[in-house]
Amino acid sequence: MPSSTTSDRGSENRGSENRGSQPSLPGAAYRFHCIGCGSILSAAAHDFRCAECGNLLEITDPAWKSPGVATHLKSLWRERRLSNSSLDLSGVWRFRELLPAPDSEQHVITLREGNTPLYELPRSSRSTGVSRLFAKHQGMNPTGSFKDAGMTVAATFARQAGYRWVACASTGNTSASMAAYAARGGMRSLVLVPEGKISWSKLSQALDYGALTCQLRTDFDGCLRLLQELVRRAPVYQLNSINPFRLEGQKALAFELLEQLDWQPPDHIIVPGGNLGNSSAIGKALLEMRDLSLIPSLPKLSVIQAEGANALVRTLREAGGKHLVSVQAETRATAIRIGNPASWQKAVNVLLATGGACEEVSEVEIAQAKAEIGAEGIGCEPASAVTLAGLRKLLRQGFVKNAETVVLVLTGSLLKDPDFTMEFHRGELLSGADNELVSRSLNRFRHPPLVLDATLDAVIQTLEQAEKAGPSL
Ligand code: F0G
Repeated sequence: MPSSTTSDRGSENRGSENRGSQPSLPGAAYRFHCIGCGSILSAAAHDFRCAECGNLLEITDPAWKSPGVATHLKSLWRERRLSNSSLDLSGVWRFRELLPAPDSEQHVITLREGNTPLYELPRSSRSTGVSRLFAKHQGMNPTGSFKDAGMTVAATFARQAGYRWVACASTGNTSASMAAYAARGGMRSLVLVPEGKISWSKLSQALDYGALTCQLRTDFDGCLRLLQELVRRAPVYQLNSINPFRLEGQKALAFELLEQLDWQPPDHIIVPGGNLGNSSAIGKALLEMRDLSLIPSLPKLSVIQAEGANALVRTLREAGGKHLVSVQAETRATAIRIGNPASWQKAVNVLLATGGACEEVSEVEIAQAKAEIGAEGIGCEPASAVTLAGLRKLLRQGFVKNAETVVLVLTGSLLKDPDFTMEFHRGELLSGADNELVSRSLNRFRHPPLVLDATLDAVIQTLEQAEKAGPSL
């Protein structure tokens, strides 16, 4: 049980290092800022909502607007790459000047998250005509998704606040990540997932990391609603992206990306949208980097959703971003099968601030894009592939130009959803009568496994046929 009635208190102490005569960020405290009414709070309630207006909170710190520290921060962060200290080995805590500081470094729960590669995509570059096309692969995190970057921060603050139990509703990745970090931090974890709607691979992670796992007969939105009620009644700390500490950690993706690009901002960053925490976090980081003069200009941050889970697309088109248009979500990209995204308002704000676009893509487009990313020798889970499919759409609309630099954020590993991949290559995905024609158009992207007699002749014959047919992609 936590000892106070509030979940978390803002810090009076940054715990930052004394850097002698070098310029450094002034000591300051983080606070909770309500994105609705603008209230500034020193502590957050259990549901991480503003007591005045019920809206979501974000974490702010006046030090994140200090001018004149950009050069120092860039060299400090680079220096830390040579350090073997546990905080410096984390691709999140390495950027700790722009994160809320825990009371003590001893509280930090880390699995060496972050440090994810930025890959060139030569095949997709040729096929789209975008010559500078990169993938920031968050699937290369310890539990295989971007969630780890946020979880290291939020789990750390959960332990610091004295919680024994942490909990989340999830489409799979959050639960896998939370269960891992809870286990590392000596806390117990409660997972609420929609029964039959998440991949076995993600579910099995939560089981192995020791979570109490409940498959509820509802969808993700139903699980999240229940969790919100639970945290008011039971002493559990919620680790969904409503928790602003999660989003603070997820900002690190953007810091690391810009460092990898030598602080030259790309023209576009394209990210999948589900509950809309990640886009909000990346946008927040971009704005903070601009305020600190770490970057000279803002990339446009665009969000792509599946057509069957397009709440943000509809919110912008039908309600001008003023209120949420919820949908009954349906997509095989189960990670983003979300109809009532919690952070929609934060996402609208960052789209407006960066001038990004919001688009939707079909199931066929997702399947094709996933196969193309696989053929790059990288791979990703279906939800991540919406980014490449979305890029094609934004190019057709003229929003993205061929000469511009584009970064796709791949949020999860290929290994996260093997059923999707197997069904796709076997021609079983999207194989219903309605989809017959479009499904056939995907054949050139398929590489089904072959069953052969165990003879040399059979294998050599197959090899010759494959050579004659040429590469499928
Ligand atoms: N990509 C993957 C692989 C995800 O797992 C998720 C969200 C998203 C994209 C969307 O990110 O919600 O921040 O907009 N997965 C959550 C989960 C909801 O429970 O694992 P978002």
